[in-house]
Amino acid sequence: MVAPRNNAPARSPRWLRRTLLGAACAVAGGVSLAAKPAVLLRFSHVVAPDTPKGQMALRFQALVHERSGGRIRVEVFPDSQLWGDDDEMEALRLGAVEMLAPSLSKFGNAGVPEFEVFDLPYLFADLAQVRRVTQGAVGRGLLQRLGRQQMLGLGFLDNGFKQMSATRPLRTPADFRGLRVRVQASRVLAAQMRALGARPVVLPFGETQRALASGVVDAAENPLSNFLTQGLAPWQPHVTLTQHGYLGYAVVSNPRFWASLSQADHRLLASALEDALAHGNRLSADLDRQALAMLRRTPGVMLHEPSAAERAALRQAVQPAWDGLRRSLGPGLLNDVRNALITG
Ligand code: LMR
Repeated sequence: MVAPRNNAPARSPRWLRRTLLGAACAVAGGVSLAAKPAVLLRFSHVVAPDTPKGQMALRFQALVHERSGGRIRVEVFPDSQLWGDDDEMEALRLGAVEMLAPSLSKFGNAGVPEFEVFDLPYLFADLAQVRRVTQGAVGRGLLQRLGRQQMLGLGFLDNGFKQMSATRPLRTPADFRGLRVRVQASRVLAAQMRALGARPVVLPFGETQRALASGVVDAAENPLSNFLTQGLAPWQPHVTLTQHGYLGYAVVSNPRFWASLSQADHRLLASALEDALAHGNRLSADLDRQALAMLRRTPGVMLHEPSAAERAALRQAVQPAWDGLRRSLGPGLLNDVRNALITG
């Protein structure tokens, strides 16, 4: 069940959090020396536990524990506790964490620009369409490309469609003019906001709430489960159900870590992950619906549904983001995505 977080937690600096975390893990390890696992897999992510990604990671942890009889231990670190957007992929390459599930929007900046195709506004009509791409040849090809950046791509997970939030309704392109909008580090997302007359501000997810609270940025785009669990409502009372873009994840590991495991452990982890991803994918639409219902009941939150004409104007206005991606990647991948959408 998605639960709102109302106030910003008093966050200690990251080095302090990591030191405390390291000490806590050392103590836990010391207490249970006899039960020391043969394999330890640290899974770090940036969102709350009660989101599709948070729930998927916990299901993976439970399945691995059950199927390995505790021989393989998965430790899950949510909420950017261990690593945040700025450093998690580097930490993976250096072996300071074994598994991540960054949003697809974050792989472009990490050297795999093809992933930015998922950021194209209005590319997908629904999650069934997304899966035609992620679960087919195009998805497999994209996961393979992660090898170029020393990442092993293991699977895709949905969160859902993004909605706009701000201190005012955002129904038409004119409403966006002059707003500073927090975006993930993706050229397509930045182009989308510029096309609407807004100023994109790239910020790590873990800093978004504070930036909105302090007025560094005025607006944000999020699936509703992230909006709710990050406690953004007090600073973003207007949520416009634009449904303008998709947010999903790729689960990645460190190829050296993976190569150090036995074939039997590969099979165990791969099948646990497959089941955990299926669980997360089943959950994503439900958590989205629950978050919407909860926001409808939240005092002070105003939900807006753009009309068909307003949606059409927004869609028209963001075309430059498509042109930019066509220029930077060429037509090949876009044609493959389109074919996947048509043929399934
Ligand atoms: C964001 O930065 O907005 C998202 O990628 C966070 C997440 O992992 O869902």
